[in-house]
Amino acid sequence: MSNTKNIVVLVSGGGTNLQALIDAQSRGELGCGKISCVISSKADAYALTRAKNNGIKTRTLIRKDYADIASYSRAMRDALIEEKADVVVYAGFMTILDENVCDAFVNKMINVHPALIPSFCGKGYYGLYVHEEALKKGVKVSGATVHFVTAECDAGPIILQKAVEVFDGDTPETLQKRIMEQAEWKILPMAVRLLCDDKIVIKDGKTYIKS
Ligand code: GAR
Repeated sequence: MSNTKNIVVLVSGGGTNLQALIDAQSRGELGCGKISCVISSKADAYALTRAKNNGIKTRTLIRKDYADIASYSRAMRDALIEEKADVVVYAGFMTILDENVCDAFVNKMINVHPALIPSFCGKGYYGLYVHEEALKKGVKVSGATVHFVTAECDAGPIILQKAVEVFDGDTPETLQKRIMEQAEWKILPMAVRLLCDDKIVIKDGKTYIKS
């Protein structure tokens, strides 16, 4: 019996984090995990092309085809069950799913967020806006966080974080690029591997990594 875990990656845009996962997989760095399917909330997401270029199954589940978040979440839950997802990764996935999904995949879904949670996170904080707000505040350090997904946006237990320096003259775009390169593309594959290899313990809302 194989202990391979099906990783389903949820995307909405360019998919550079998906690419980091694909590259990590080709280097043998996802442990027991294998990317089995990519599901996009947008039909024209470039992430879908990245998946197809690498022979990975794709599906689209368009947010605006559903009346509300509850019906979209139920459709996503059914798709994830159909794909036999063991691990679900939000990689630039811009829709908040409700407890219909979260309750079906407790401690199996993770998200990468482009800031050091609890800063610049929660509903409305996504993509470039996160970096705009960080620059507006004048923080000297920002970074990225990988955390478990719960029904409360960006509030699940933190798995990994990496700090990145903010420079004078940064624009949201330059800061986003540095955070992706130095933090997101590194800690997301690491966290996926830890989860696939059952190395993460959660106790009292905090995570611990088994040695
Ligand atoms: C990434 O910076 C990711 O952390 C962020 O959107 C970008 C997607 O890029 N996600 C969020 O803001 C979610 N709250 P990608 O499509 O190239 O991976």
